[in-house]
Amino acid sequence: MSNTLPPLPYGYDALEPYISQQIMTLHHQKHHQTYVNALNAAEAAYAKASTPKERIALQAALKFNGGGHINHSLFWKNLAPSAAAKKGTGGTLQDGPLKKAIEESFGSLDTLKKEFNAATLGIQGSGWGWLGYNTQTKRLEIATTPNQDPLLSLVPIIGVDIWEHAFYLQYLNVKVDYLTAIWNVINFEEAEARLLEATGGSKL
Ligand SMILES: [Fe+2]
Repeated sequence: MSNTLPPLPYGYDALEPYISQQIMTLHHQKHHQTYVNALNAAEAAYAKASTPKERIALQAALKFNGGGHINHSLFWKNLAPSAAAKKGTGGTLQDGPLKKAIEESFGSLDTLKKEFNAATLGIQGSGWGWLGYNTQTKRLEIATTPNQDPLLSLVPIIGVDIWEHAFYLQYLNVKVDYLTAIWNVINFEEAEARLLEATGGSKL
């Protein structure tokens, strides 16, 4: 059971000018591939481990690299070529269940962006910013996770990588500019599909 690097659903230059071709190429081919390789190595070692102690020793590698693989696989799909750059539909939120849920939970998309960016900027070190769906309260919430921890407390709807490898070559230390720019390439259609899956609405 080997994990593999999923292909990007668009070209490496498709998210420009908001995320550069250089970042996308390195991020996908080098960083994500490294998580996949290390996860496969950890899973293979786990399969051969014969004692609880050996298995416990592999937990950190499984969590870090497994989380990295899960998070990046979600991330590529929740980005899309930008409508503002006349390349696609990225960054546009059409009327529908997601827009309704965002307005119910945050008042407006602009408020969501402000709250999301503020929470994500507050991450100390590397991590991820999330818009997630709470299946108990049936509302959308903002969350963050450190390192490569996957979002487990909510169903992930949108995830944004705030590791330096995701932005530094283009935005240097100015994280807020990266976070402002990325909303131009958020794939709200994918986000809505995840919300419908989480709520069972796709069966209606
Ligand atoms: Fe990353």
